[in-house]
Amino acid sequence: MNSAKSVLVTGGAGYIGSHACVELLQAGYRVVVVDNLENSKFEALKRVQEITDKPLTFYQVDIRDHASLADVFAKEAITSVMHFAGLKAVGESCELPLKYYHNNVYGTIVLLQVMAEANVKQLVFSSSATVYGTNPQVQYTEDLPIGAVNPYGRTKAMIEDMLRDLSAADAIKPSQSPWKIALLRYFNPIGAHESGRIGEDPNGIPNNLMPYVTQVAIGKLAQLSVFGDDYPTPDGTGVRDYIHVVDLVKGHIKAIQALQTEKFAAGGCKAYNLGAGKGCSVLEIIGTFEKITGRKVNYSFAPRRAGDLPEYYANPALALQELGWQVEKTLEDMVADTWLWQVNNPQGYN
Ligand code: NAD
Ligand code: UD1
Repeated sequence: MNSAKSVLVTGGAGYIGSHACVELLQAGYRVVVVDNLENSKFEALKRVQEITDKPLTFYQVDIRDHASLADVFAKEAITSVMHFAGLKAVGESCELPLKYYHNNVYGTIVLLQVMAEANVKQLVFSSSATVYGTNPQVQYTEDLPIGAVNPYGRTKAMIEDMLRDLSAADAIKPSQSPWKIALLRYFNPIGAHESGRIGEDPNGIPNNLMPYVTQVAIGKLAQLSVFGDDYPTPDGTGVRDYIHVVDLVKGHIKAIQALQTEKFAAGGCKAYNLGAGKGCSVLEIIGTFEKITGRKVNYSFAPRRAGDLPEYYANPALALQELGWQVEKTLEDMVADTWLWQVNNPQGYN
């Protein structure tokens, strides 16, 4: 056992966390997963172990349960944490804001308390481009002001603030082991592992574009509503920066490695955009999907969805410069891998 490389993955059974587990195991890390399985299934972790032919350790624990989480830290020689656990449905967060603040913000507070008690102070946090809120510029750089526009987004912004405060406190009262934190702001993660064994398994009718398109193509849903055809974008539909989930989790490995370099020797908390750096419209997604799969995607135009921005995408230059990371996969790869996952697992993990 190489205890110098043991990573705790909170939310490791989820969509992004399970892909991170594969990448970590393949990179030689020991992986300990904590997940309450609220939005995931253990089957994902079984498949992670099949793909990699390596074991991981799993605890069905809620990160808000201080005693159980502390127990995990006491048993396992954790050296750093990738923190994916959280709730992520924007619409639900507007209906049930306290559920989101309690799970995401309070859950992170408990995690940080337990980490501090165990003197484990290296953290990679799943943030989101949603923290940029509304901005006049469409290509986001990390120095833009934060201003989320819904409760989900505000939980991410609050956690970011909290992590910056934690790191700033080290400067006031210098610590032998300062906090080393990477805030990774994801753009739009889609795709699945190339094996087709793990992927996104949304509950009920999906809210996000890619799972919806996939379920229309396979005949589970009748028709896609394209929200808005009159945006000031080249074809009138919304533009986003889609990123392959495997590229995304590779960014996490780069970040965890960077936390151990000279750059973070004195500690620090730094945000990085993880995106491809280019925008893609809803119609481009549909067109690529039809080309790659040979399936027709039935769609019709519908009014704009409340809260949607016309267009935004990442400036990923900082991640390249400081983490040595950039995307490698194309939109075609994202569609092909999503489709393989969907065809092989029409009922998800069920
Ligand atoms: P997901 O729902 O598939 O995974 C989250 C996992 O966390 C699930 O397995 C869930 O059971 C677990 N979990 C939730 N609350 C928990 C708690 N209190 N204790 C223990 N486990 C808990 O979501 P995902 O798409 O994999 O997202 C992972 C992270 O990335 C989330 O924090 C999300 O907000 C963030 N993020 C996701 C996207 C995206 O588009 N998927 C974009 C930006 C940021
Ligand atoms: C959504 C979340 C955002 C989160 C991100 C993660 C909302 C309002 N925002 O962003 O907080 O960080 O996911 O990936 O939920 N679209 C359609 N028809 C559909 C679904 C989507 O036309 O049925 C369009 C949307 O209008 C948008 C694009 O497709 O232009 C992408 O939508 P989606 O996948 O939901 O992601 P975001 O809205 O960018």
